[in-house]
Amino acid sequence: MQEKLKQLKTEALLALKSIKDKAQLEELEVRFLGRKGGELTELLKGLKDLSDDAKREVGQLANEVKTSLEEAVSAKKKEFSKIEMAGLLEKESLDISQPALPPKSFGHLHPNTIIQNDLEDFFTSMGFMVLDGPELESEYYNFSALNIPPDHPARDMQDTFYIKNHTDWVMRTHTSPVQVRAMQKYGAPLRMIVPGKCFRNEATDVRHEHTFYQLEGVVIDKDISFAHMKGVLESVAKHLYGPDTKINMRPKFYPFVEPGVNLEVTCFVCQGKGCRLCKQSGWLEIGGAGMIHPNVLRESGIDTKVNQGFAFGFGLTRLVMLKYGIEDVRLLESGNMKFLEQF
Ligand code: PHE
Repeated sequence: MQEKLKQLKTEALLALKSIKDKAQLEELEVRFLGRKGGELTELLKGLKDLSDDAKREVGQLANEVKTSLEEAVSAKKKEFSKIEMAGLLEKESLDISQPALPPKSFGHLHPNTIIQNDLEDFFTSMGFMVLDGPELESEYYNFSALNIPPDHPARDMQDTFYIKNHTDWVMRTHTSPVQVRAMQKYGAPLRMIVPGKCFRNEATDVRHEHTFYQLEGVVIDKDISFAHMKGVLESVAKHLYGPDTKINMRPKFYPFVEPGVNLEVTCFVCQGKGCRLCKQSGWLEIGGAGMIHPNVLRESGIDTKVNQGFAFGFGLTRLVMLKYGIEDVRLLESGNMKFLEQF
């Protein structure tokens, strides 16, 4: 029996050496040390047939074998746990020396914003403030304060979105209401521009959109004349389309200016010779302008005996379309990435 015990020990230790994972280790533990059917347990069943002396001797040996096997198994268990931990650490480790991957794509500016930023820089360099105004506007600022009384046919010039249950609110049809807001707030002298969104209830097509941008401007001071206005408009035109650009001003009625003009610039495609873009006229329309009507100045709290001024309103959306050769205005508000990623 002593021989058998020794042999069992050797066999078990040998088997332990070739164990590769936790599962195999558990199997081996059951096989040799298991309480039911384990080889050592089975072997010790033979103890009862021995003499008392032999029992003591063999019992002692059996205990030694058991302890050394248990120790060997638990050492192996520890070894496996260590390997497991190391594996986890390796998986979770972070190589902080690895250079960062470049982001897949950066955002970029909408073509409208590019032109708006450019014009804001241009006007601030001439001492203009850049202002904002509400897009949901009162009828008073959008029309009445601009010398367009209720029921005046001029209200029909602009197809207006009215707000349900709020008869005196509109989505502003132009940026001109900010002329009055700015004069009321800052008084004279004043130099300001307002780039912003406007809304009209249009049937949309390649040239018409319900949402578009304008860039309004106002100059108020002593002795401001039509010549100042012409000078400013000319420099904007040259800034946008090059030093050889000329401007053309045709009389046009706007209730809030007198005199009022329609502003055109030399067609930059044909240099004024006539082409498809300018419909053979040689000119491209980019906005309206005029000397601010005394009624508007008075409504805004400006002393008309001391100060005069001019105002202009560019179709900012139109400037963008001309600059980039965009033929369908609807693309600008479409959120179409194929279109937008070109800028
Ligand atoms: N607000 C006018 C429009 O939307 C443009 C304009 C602005 C005309 C300022 C004259 C002076 O058509």
